[in-house]
Amino acid sequence: MRQKVIAGNWKMHCTIPEARRLATQLTKRLDKKPAPKTRVIICPPSTALSAVSEVAKGSAVYVGAQNIAWEEEGAFTGEVSVKMIKNAGAKYTIIAHSERRKYFNETSNIINKKIKTALRNKVKVIYCVGETLDERQNNLTKDIVLNQMEWDLKDLEVTDLKNMMIAYEPVWAIGTGKTATPEQAQDVHSFIRDIVDTIFKGSPASKLSILYGGSVKPGNAEDLLSQPDIDGALVGGAALDAAGFHKIIQASEKVGKK
Ligand code: PGA
Repeated sequence: MRQKVIAGNWKMHCTIPEARRLATQLTKRLDKKPAPKTRVIICPPSTALSAVSEVAKGSAVYVGAQNIAWEEEGAFTGEVSVKMIKNAGAKYTIIAHSERRKYFNETSNIINKKIKTALRNKVKVIYCVGETLDERQNNLTKDIVLNQMEWDLKDLEVTDLKNMMIAYEPVWAIGTGKTATPEQAQDVHSFIRDIVDTIFKGSPASKLSILYGGSVKPGNAEDLLSQPDIDGALVGGAALDAAGFHKIIQASEKVGKK
């Protein structure tokens, strides 16, 4: 059985007091027993990691960062290291979000180093892939995803996958209100699982959680999460509203085990 996951990517939103408030609203909603079977992760901006980790302590909520530097330490002005986010309470980090690829020119080489740096430091990775609208319209979705995975995951070991999950996030669906249909998402998710089994020996893909991201909302979560290869969601905009995000967690709790 694969771990179900609902992760919230707060992006560049929330000052420390705002982040504390949002995290508190969420943990209160999740307080009731039994604890959810779904792994709930929230990824605030790095300035709020510490405060949010304090709020999340003892709750069902795990904390993640949105990014890390590929180096562990040194003269890298403006960067935040894996040790820093870990020290601030993060157990996870998102890597290779399409906004990082696009606005911060993250190449496969950089992404590959970041993944290895995170794993070496025992921080789990939410690794993102996905195609642009242009690429989808030109029938390049699978080529793009395959190419990203081949290079981004270069030289990783099959055991590394135990500390990773993959998020399929079609770039055209992020923050646009356009969601991939459950069938479109399922098709790419099952393709990703096949690639993982091709790259890594020993069929590890059956245990790997693959999340969908791109305009996931309370209203569409259940349909997406019901697909056989969709194990969870990486939620942007809708994660900034505790009630809505909680509804997405409830949708995950509702769908059958895979
Ligand atoms: P969205 O963002 O839910 O606002 O589309 C998803 C993401 O970028 O992770």
